[in-house]
Amino acid sequence: MISHDILIVGGGLAGLRAAIEAKSQGLDCAVISKVHPLRSHSIAAQGGINAPLANAPDGRDDSIEKHTFDTIKGSDYLADQDAVEIMCSEAPKIVYEMEHWGTPFSRFDDGRIAQRPFGGADFPRTCYAADRTGHVLLHTLYEQAVKLGVRVYEERTVVSLSVKDGHFAGLIALNLLNEEFEIFEGKACVFATGGYGRVYLKSTNALINTGSGIAVCYRAGVVIKDLEFVQFHPTCLFGTNILITEGARGEGGTLSNAKGERFMQRYAPGKIELAPRDIVARSIQTEIEEGRGLEGGYVNLDLRHLGKKKILERLPAIRDIAIDFADCDPIDKPIPILPAQHYSMGGISTNEKAQTEVSGLFAAGECACVSVHGANRLGGNSLLDTIVFGKIAGEEAAFFIKGSQKSQGENKTILNDELRRIEEKGKTFIKREKGIPLTEIRDELRKTMTEKVGIFREEKQLRDAVSKIEELKSEAKQLFIGKTNNGVNQTLAKAFEFEGMLDLAEIITKGALQRTESRGSHFRRDHPKRDDEKWLKHTIARFTESGPAFEYSKVKITRYEPKERKY
Ligand code: FUM
Repeated sequence: MISHDILIVGGGLAGLRAAIEAKSQGLDCAVISKVHPLRSHSIAAQGGINAPLANAPDGRDDSIEKHTFDTIKGSDYLADQDAVEIMCSEAPKIVYEMEHWGTPFSRFDDGRIAQRPFGGADFPRTCYAADRTGHVLLHTLYEQAVKLGVRVYEERTVVSLSVKDGHFAGLIALNLLNEEFEIFEGKACVFATGGYGRVYLKSTNALINTGSGIAVCYRAGVVIKDLEFVQFHPTCLFGTNILITEGARGEGGTLSNAKGERFMQRYAPGKIELAPRDIVARSIQTEIEEGRGLEGGYVNLDLRHLGKKKILERLPAIRDIAIDFADCDPIDKPIPILPAQHYSMGGISTNEKAQTEVSGLFAAGECACVSVHGANRLGGNSLLDTIVFGKIAGEEAAFFIKGSQKSQGENKTILNDELRRIEEKGKTFIKREKGIPLTEIRDELRKTMTEKVGIFREEKQLRDAVSKIEELKSEAKQLFIGKTNNGVNQTLAKAFEFEGMLDLAEIITKGALQRTESRGSHFRRDHPKRDDEKWLKHTIARFTESGPAFEYSKVKITRYEPKERKY
């Protein structure tokens, strides 16, 4: 049994920031991660982190209040406004703290941190390091974690969470290096495991983003919130789904269809390409579906007018991606793009202190739903969310254990029982000699989600998706994983993850079916209007053996009464 006071699951920005906070208070904490922290998906964030620093010459009037309002309006009024107020008021402090820890932000000529325009924001508010912002932030936090001596258990997938009488009890993780299951015991735990993008076929997410952390919490009885709100990033490289940052449009890139029309002028005349993501993604999809896309089904993102100097300085990684994966140098040619799944607004339900309903259990970052993003997240607010709420989760976990009476080994019996159950399950996968191959059934799920629970939704498709997911759940009882080799082998972990992917797909789809309105990223063709009277509420899902049980909870409104969104 491995024992630490605070267990942090996930080594990306939220997890590392939580660890730094707890460790700098002198507490015993450890990070458990599927991969080395520097391979976490946070590394892939490109365009930037929002903070109303008012550094840009045309952004001098920016303020915390304006950032708060843009975020709430962008969320289509589903965000909890008290939580958004906290996130936006912490933003400047967080960015300066990262700067002081060494993050190499891009600079304006006067030396101040550079800021670029991003979608749905009224001012250039997104601080960036060219187009590798997640990369530099992650390195900065990793350095701090190393400096403080944070213990990291990498190559571990957490497959089970134990809760006893409403209190966090411990975890079971699969050690990917030797295929053995291990018990982790702690007084408090922070989940910071990122999103579930790989439940979809077309996603910008890393292969590790299967939503396993959210699913493990769900199976343990933790409440999951607003999972039907799935963000589709408008600009992903055609054929590969690699993210092409919103920063490309922030720097002045334009979108055009096969006729060469700058079509966003029709959909969002006030903001054009810099409307919020849900609107831009739907517009692109509409152009393609109505036959105005280019051959094969994409539109063009044109950067040529920015000129070579600006592209090389501000968007060097985007240029490399376009050259390497599409044989297209954006200095000379437009980039072929289309939308793909990118982010999960929903997740493990927490309050503004990162607390779940289980005492001693916290969550932060994309796996959590505070909710600061509501029905649609603004670009640049995700990096901010990870660091602000990662820090809060670390603080709160530290505060919690200082008052905890829990003694080491207290949950030994239930954790040993859970270990045996999980080991038996693992053996069943390993011993099965034939059945339905994991890759086949997983691809089927992903295809269903992309085709039927995508940017545009309607009852018939959602019902078809529910039937398919139920069919796959039953087939999964015969899941065949092939040979494992007691060595570095992901197959067994993937089998455990797949059960969770089915659970999440079911919550997303059934939640989307029930929500008979359109709000933010959730667009129902058969219910195209937002319906505040009936649906200004969060979706709450709890695990039952026969599928998710849904309830609804109130959205916290502080100062901003819901209005129609116009851009
Ligand atoms: O477009 C991007 O660079 C992504 C940013 C984000 O998801 O916040």
